[in-house]
Amino acid sequence: MTEGLQLFVPTFRVDEVLAEIRECLEKGWTGLGYKTVEIESRWREYSGLPHAHFLNSASSGLHLAVRLLKDSEGWRDGDEVITTPLTFVSTNHAILYERLRPVFADVDEHLCLDPASVAARMSPRTRAVMFVGFGGSPGRYAQVRALCRERGVKLILDAAHMAGTWLGGRHAGADADVAVFSFQAVKNLPTADSGMICFADARLDEEVRKWSWMGINKDTYARTLSSGAYKWLYDVEQIGFKYHGNSIMAAMALVGLRYLEQDNAFRRRLCDRYDEGLAGARGIERVPVVDGCVPSRHLYQVLVDRRDETMVLLNQNGIFPGVHYRDNTLYRMYADAAGTCPRARTASESLISLPLHLRLTDTDVDRVAATLRRIVSEAPSGLREGGPSSAP
Ligand SMILES: Cc1ncc(COP(=O)(O)O)c(C=O)c1O
Repeated sequence: MTEGLQLFVPTFRVDEVLAEIRECLEKGWTGLGYKTVEIESRWREYSGLPHAHFLNSASSGLHLAVRLLKDSEGWRDGDEVITTPLTFVSTNHAILYERLRPVFADVDEHLCLDPASVAARMSPRTRAVMFVGFGGSPGRYAQVRALCRERGVKLILDAAHMAGTWLGGRHAGADADVAVFSFQAVKNLPTADSGMICFADARLDEEVRKWSWMGINKDTYARTLSSGAYKWLYDVEQIGFKYHGNSIMAAMALVGLRYLEQDNAFRRRLCDRYDEGLAGARGIERVPVVDGCVPSRHLYQVLVDRRDETMVLLNQNGIFPGVHYRDNTLYRMYADAAGTCPRARTASESLISLPLHLRLTDTDVDRVAATLRRIVSEAPSGLREGGPSSAP
């Protein structure tokens, strides 16, 4: 790996993880069932969400969220889902997989969907809003939720960044029709690859278990636990997918979950330190977090002019940040919507995600903040005037 301060470095409690995995190996059960059942129940206890199904990724979860809502609500091909252009493409591919039309709305200063833009883009064919809790922040989620209720539109929460985000004492996703979490390697609850889908409706939770296992109505683990001569027998009810999680990933997630609150508190502390180090810096705009929530702080983001050049200079100083995300309408797949979300486009050209992970020290954070300040302050002033928010 490149030396220096990296954007993300996952931390695993290796001995604890190995002990959990050892149990799977000794039992001879590494697949669906056993630890996957345990992580589902631990996640429900932790989050207070009524249902949870463990999957191989959040990407699979987003697809299943759209798929099951489409089926149960009777949506037609070509119906619309309002979504954000500032996200990882899984969010928007999920809409296209099901032959629905993504309608992009613009983001606000939190980089989450702007309720005013969402309202303006609703049409008689709008069936759902896909809201991304960007970096773990809820943005104006509550207003978008209210809008969805008012218009009878479903709300899918892409909570890939929101493991451990609390809003008014409830875990993110508590009032969504469905919330999908990512436990991918660099997320706040890291495994190698896995995720959790949490439907509000018990019927959909039951359905999703079949959809994630090829449409089979009785999983192998349940069959193993059951008795009788016909325990091998099952039916296939849909053309499902192989999207379920396995016990090795669940073993990793069980350990990660034990530390999630502690780890997120550490992240928040690092973010506070970034805030202090960057306060008042001309030409560096911090992405504000919403008051009254406890965010997971998956990302710490700033906006600067001349982003690409700034990134190169940071690299030369041993600092390797990232970019989350490029405006999806810059991609060929979504180019027909190019130019419809100016704020997302500006952000896409100026965003930097600064290093944020559990191995950073205060000194590291201070060094990143000081280096960024110096680089931006040394940029030719004509290009710095007004800061990134003044960009067209
Ligand atoms: C906003 C968002 N949605 C969905 C995903 C997909 O998550 P996974 O890698 O678990 O499929 C990611 C992953 O980076 C993401 O950032």
